[in-house]
Amino acid sequence: MTDVDLPALLSRALKRRLPLLAQWHGEGTDCYRLFHGAAEGLPGVTVDRYGPHLMIQSFHHSLDAEHLAQIQTIVETQLEQPLTCFYMDRSGKHPQAVALGDPLETDNEATCHELGVCYRTRGRHRGRDPLLFLDLRAGRRWVQSEAKGLRVLNLFAYTCGTGVCASHAGASEVVNVDFSQSALAVGRENAALNGIGAGISFIQSDVFPALRQLAGLPVTFRRRRGSRAPSNYPRLKPRQFEMVILDPPRWAKSPFGTVDLIRDYASVFKPALLATAPGGRLLCTNNVARVEREPWLDQLRRSAAKAGRPIKAVELIEPEADFPSFDDQPPLKMAVLEV
Ligand SMILES: C[S@@+](CC[C@H](N)C(=O)[O-])C[C@H]1O[C@@H](n2cnc3c(N)ncnc32)[C@H](O)[C@@H]1O
Repeated sequence: MTDVDLPALLSRALKRRLPLLAQWHGEGTDCYRLFHGAAEGLPGVTVDRYGPHLMIQSFHHSLDAEHLAQIQTIVETQLEQPLTCFYMDRSGKHPQAVALGDPLETDNEATCHELGVCYRTRGRHRGRDPLLFLDLRAGRRWVQSEAKGLRVLNLFAYTCGTGVCASHAGASEVVNVDFSQSALAVGRENAALNGIGAGISFIQSDVFPALRQLAGLPVTFRRRRGSRAPSNYPRLKPRQFEMVILDPPRWAKSPFGTVDLIRDYASVFKPALLATAPGGRLLCTNNVARVEREPWLDQLRRSAAKAGRPIKAVELIEPEADFPSFDDQPPLKMAVLEV
């Protein structure tokens, strides 16, 4: 850190974003990445705005108090408003976000906005982000422009950002599935914040049994010696959706299967495809940096053909300009597949 001029790098990043800031503020967005260290001169450091909160994160080294204060001052001066600043040091074993001001005076809960939709945000949080993944904005923008009148299935919904965005855009029905009760509770709050009461549901379930039932496939589970088939999952009837959002985590193991975006995307993709109505579309993501886009798309094409539901068209979505890429290979790959 010592030989890096952090204020200069941050000022340059903010200058580059000036036209973007005007655009975002104009379209009702006040959460965005202000500094993306990987492509802007300081890998492992990010600075994000979430409405009234500023979230600084470092992944490889700790930032000292002087650097944190410099970042806050530079951002507040540029945005011409005070922000409540949080720092998440992820370089150690037990990362924990801390408020930089007086913790008793600090408002940990707040609301941020994206494309005119309100979302909860939390300064001191335990997850990888304060309740909304900013790099998925490009995906939510697509959903917002296309969801009107459609039945939408949102898998690995987390805090239901994409599902709430679809409802807000006029989807006829949105079904969010995630096994995390606390994430779905935030999803419900997000819906309420936007005055959405009807036409949205939150299914607390492992995605594997929920999705396989919707797709009309038998529920399977990981066989371990002596273990019995788990039966604690909600029962669902087979049905299809015109829009399916498949934004899984990199890796997750459950009694029903393993999500593995490097070795086995098909385990979630195939049932998601079968739960998509003919002529419908899937928004698929893969956030593993070392998975390249073309080989991933080839895998999806092969898997779709094998399932008897060939892909008719592919539309690629790039992350927006607050997530610049140093090699034109953004870690988050997003593809809309018409099937
Ligand atoms: C990376 S987040 C997904 C981000 C989300 N799609 C969004 O729009 O913000 C991963 C989510 O997957 C959920 N998850 C992981 N494995 C799961 C499984 N087998 N069944 C259900 N949910 C799962 C986690 O609880 C977490 O909320």
